[in-house]
Amino acid sequence: MSIETTANAAYLVAALLFILSLAGLSKHETARRGLSFGIAGMALALISTVALAIDHKPATTGIIMMAVAVLIGAAIGLWRARSVQMTEMPELIALLHSFVGLAAVLVGWNGYLEPELHGELTGSLLGIHHAEVFIGVFIGAVTFTGSIVAYLKLSGKMKSAPLVLPGKNVINAGIIVVFIVLTVWFVASPALWMLIVVTVIALALGWHLVASIGGGDMPVVVSMLNSYSGWAAAATGFLLGNDLLIVTGALVGSSGAYLSYIMCKAMNRSFISVIMGGFGIEASSGEGKDHGEHREVDVEGAAELLAGANSVIIAPGYGMAVAQAQYPVADLTRTLRDRGVDVRFAVHPVAGRLPGHMNVLLAEAKVPYDIVMELDEINDDFADTDVVLVIGANDTVNPDAAEDPGSPIAGMPVLHVWESTDVIVFKRSMAAGYAGVQNPLFFRDNTQMLFGDAKDRVDEILSAVKDSQGAKA
Ligand code: TAP
Repeated sequence: MSIETTANAAYLVAALLFILSLAGLSKHETARRGLSFGIAGMALALISTVALAIDHKPATTGIIMMAVAVLIGAAIGLWRARSVQMTEMPELIALLHSFVGLAAVLVGWNGYLEPELHGELTGSLLGIHHAEVFIGVFIGAVTFTGSIVAYLKLSGKMKSAPLVLPGKNVINAGIIVVFIVLTVWFVASPALWMLIVVTVIALALGWHLVASIGGGDMPVVVSMLNSYSGWAAAATGFLLGNDLLIVTGALVGSSGAYLSYIMCKAMNRSFISVIMGGFGIEASSGEGKDHGEHREVDVEGAAELLAGANSVIIAPGYGMAVAQAQYPVADLTRTLRDRGVDVRFAVHPVAGRLPGHMNVLLAEAKVPYDIVMELDEINDDFADTDVVLVIGANDTVNPDAAEDPGSPIAGMPVLHVWESTDVIVFKRSMAAGYAGVQNPLFFRDNTQMLFGDAKDRVDEILSAVKDSQGAKA
């Protein structure tokens, strides 16, 4: 059997392993197995590709360059994966998506400048080749700059508020029309200037699309860019005549699109609006409002409130992850439950910075699964709750989302923490949350702010609660 036939058979097995991997990743219990399938599929794909390359061009400098690139890439990948904090994962993923986009642009350009590398193409095959080049470069360039803006926003290097240029929808629609016209023209009579123009306008479109989306919608943007990167990889696969890249790209592209759709539904957002760069989103009206004075509580006051409570709900958010407060929070939960207090957790679907972020942290700290509730399961129970501890959450507990139609996060489902008797908010300052909007919860009559690092404050409350227990015994 020739190397080519063996490699193609191996590609088929790798594609199946990727499908099994996606299936495994869809449930907690099978996620580990899913990852193993993915790693095995990728190893098989890499080995087959290297074998094919050696078979085609034995012992050329190209092989040496490929080996060096794989070694450098693997070393950087290993180092980043080991050193990245969990709160930095989304920005790392955004950066990785940008590499896929850049690769698609470079492969597309190479396909135009060196057409002979892609075999003897004539007639309609040449036309298809040119369409692949043009579309691949367009999707790749949109993914590249879109992912860079997502990286900058997620890492706080760029403001998360939406960019609202006058006529932004006309700009986006205009670029799409120019792209369609140029694609037809390029297929009919290709010229270098057209490729340059499409690269530039696609880079601008990617930047503009993501810059126009507000912080509250970033979770959807990240999964949408994931989808774009899949389509960019599939386009590269067509150009390189690599079936596995086409299958893998289509898997990532369609699963990313489906995830974006599910997230839009959960966040009560319009899917079309988000993929079209915030189509229909106008500048917010709510900022600069006078919310009045906030009240503060100290550690003793908070411990006293907890000592007198029968029911407590903890709403964790990004700040709990930053402070790594999940361990003392779990200890506090155990202590209160031992005293007969009903303690539960309310987890918002986009609390933190990645899907399931809070669930992972709470599981890590050994909080029992059965007291960790989803938004829909617990939202009606706040009204019957004595004390809610909001630990490092902000946008996900913002009443404006439910009450102010002019707010940039209007319509997003939020935890109705304000309906409980008392709310204690743990954060370090009065700063806004990720979406960049002020939170009127902090100024409500039943809310008290407990300033400082969440881990330090929870540790202190835990000691105070234990001391009072010791004094009573
Ligand atoms: P955020 O709105 O991000 O607010 C977190 C709060 O934690 C901040 O207001 C901050 O206030 C506080 N904080 C930070 N470090 C702290 C520390 N060491 N101790 C105590 N408090 C600390 O949180 P959220 O309610 O979890 O909402 C998540 C936001 O991220 C949403 O807007 C969501 O759309 C977005 N997002 C989510 C995802 C996914 S998939 N989950 C992905 C991208 C973006 P101070 O600075 O005053 O302390």
